[in-house]
Amino acid sequence: MTDRADYSSTAAAATDARPPSLTVLGLETSCDETAASVVRLSDAGAEVLSSVVHSQIDDHAAYGGVVPEIAARSHVEMIDGVARRAMKEAGLNWGALDGVAATAGPGLVGGVMVGLSYGKAAALARGLPLIAVNHLEGHAVSARLGAQTRYPFLLLLVSGGHCQLLEVRGIGDMTRLGTTIDDAAGEAFDKIAKAMGLGYPGGPALERLAAGGDGSRFDLPRALLGRKDCDFSFSGLKTAASRLAETCETAQDRADLADAVQNAIARQLTERTERAMQAYAETHDHRLFIVAGGVAANRTVRSRLTEAAARHGFDFLAPPLAYCTDNAAMIALAGAERLEKGLVSDIDVAARPRWPLDEARAISDPVHLKAGRKGAKA
Ligand code: KG4
Ligand code: ZN
Repeated sequence: MTDRADYSSTAAAATDARPPSLTVLGLETSCDETAASVVRLSDAGAEVLSSVVHSQIDDHAAYGGVVPEIAARSHVEMIDGVARRAMKEAGLNWGALDGVAATAGPGLVGGVMVGLSYGKAAALARGLPLIAVNHLEGHAVSARLGAQTRYPFLLLLVSGGHCQLLEVRGIGDMTRLGTTIDDAAGEAFDKIAKAMGLGYPGGPALERLAAGGDGSRFDLPRALLGRKDCDFSFSGLKTAASRLAETCETAQDRADLADAVQNAIARQLTERTERAMQAYAETHDHRLFIVAGGVAANRTVRSRLTEAAARHGFDFLAPPLAYCTDNAAMIALAGAERLEKGLVSDIDVAARPRWPLDEARAISDPVHLKAGRKGAKA
């Protein structure tokens, strides 16, 4: 294996007759979930035959965030058992697979290497094609796990490491319309929750606390208001909310602040999405909006976005909750869609800590570099 940074996919040997279905094992190890899944893709859509997710939350909870070294070690211990269980639950022998897909980035590279190396070994041992999948592309197709969805669509990808608006025309064919210039929305949820003394991961904990609060008395900053683009910024909100957290005295104060934070994040996500919807609607008759990624599990975020979609004449879709947060079914599906197009990877494909979905746009408009601070993973 070489360490050269070559991620090109190569076309598989041309086959005239397309198989009636493709069955792919997916592997996901880019953050704090060790996951494996078998997905079958056919004209009837995607069928999840198994989806196993081992969460490392307990291993990291004491540190208030994911510790890369602990994550990588845990992936090494878990990956074989998790992959075997996915095969067993799918009721398949390895010979029934058409390919092995593994997340090759972006993410914590020590973990990414574990799943990718396991995928390479499995592919080599069984003589199967290897498909290196961008984790973000997995999130991008995740709504297709629960519904027969056609391309193209407008996507808000909103997770712990990413916050982007994308025009998705098909697998490997996406244009970034906006991204965060500092933190991702999930990161803001997590960091504010930490400042409020809530457990990790912070998003779900903050949502639960907000249920009993009324945030109207807090006036939190609204970022990038004068701009017309679709970029996001959450660092000002994070700083302001963390300061306010220090002034909270009662349980009710904290619940009220949680509600204010959740509303502020949902409002910014909705405002930028509406800008993107306006632009997208000018060039597309088929108007479908999809929200994916861990923050899509948040009920306030979902309902605001549902209302925005209705206002702009878009159909609204979000993945089933189990496929919002990290999982391997989305990786298996992205792998199957790539395989269907003959887009398989060389066996020496390397793990990438950073890997923008729209590489051309990321190079021509390096938003987070311009802002002079470390941005989200992509
Ligand atoms: O997609 P994901 O599992 O991992 C990444 O690729 O980042 O997203 C995890 C993120 C975390 O920041 C977590 O706090 C957030 O999604 N999250 C939520 C909720 N559930 C997960 N944020 C707000 N409300 C939720 N209910
Ligand atoms: Zn993710």
